[in-house]
Amino acid sequence: MGKIGIFYGSTEGNTEDVVERVKEALGDADVYNVDSATAEDMQKYDILILAASTWEIGELQEDWESFIDVLDDVDFSGKKVTFIGVGDADGYPDTFVDAIGIIYDRIKDSGAEFFGAWPTDDYEFDESKGVVDGKFLGLVIDEDNESDKTDERIAKWVEQIKGELGL
Ligand SMILES: Cc1cc2nc3c(=O)[nH]c(=O)nc-3n(C[C@H](O)[C@H](O)[C@H](O)COP(=O)(O)O)c2cc1C
Repeated sequence: MGKIGIFYGSTEGNTEDVVERVKEALGDADVYNVDSATAEDMQKYDILILAASTWEIGELQEDWESFIDVLDDVDFSGKKVTFIGVGDADGYPDTFVDAIGIIYDRIKDSGAEFFGAWPTDDYEFDESKGVVDGKFLGLVIDEDNESDKTDERIAKWVEQIKGELGL
């Protein structure tokens, strides 16, 4: 078992692909699709990356929609949690990567410690629930408009979180 558990939901495969690339860069991580993951799966990890795309204008990806209640059964105390949000800033500038903000809202008072916040400077959008205290809650990827930046964003963010986690 790896040190880090990555839990993702993905409708068309974009988030799945991003997660695989993050896993490769991290080296030591296990990946679960939330369409079949359980609270027990999540409980095993001290470090969690929750990855989701946003759909239906500001809504959770559909598998996350079903999975989010499972988070209430996880004891987050002592866990370090970050996010990967995949969205379309051009098509949905007012709800850009909202899904990660919705997930964060559910666990923000759970005792989890959040890490991996990421600057918004390199992105053009108007509103996002994925921004807290002026930063994204984690890595943000836009495969619809800026897939040419994805490799660099993943590399930089993974380097950042390895530093934060002392890995
Ligand atoms: C009908 C529809 C609604 C969408 N709504 C949003 C949205 O509100 N915010 C956002 O950032 N992206 C939105 N997107 C873009 C998707 O999140 C984006 O294409 C993402 O890469 C899909 O990832 P997935 O294949 O992992 O599900 C929407 C896309 C579609 C087709």
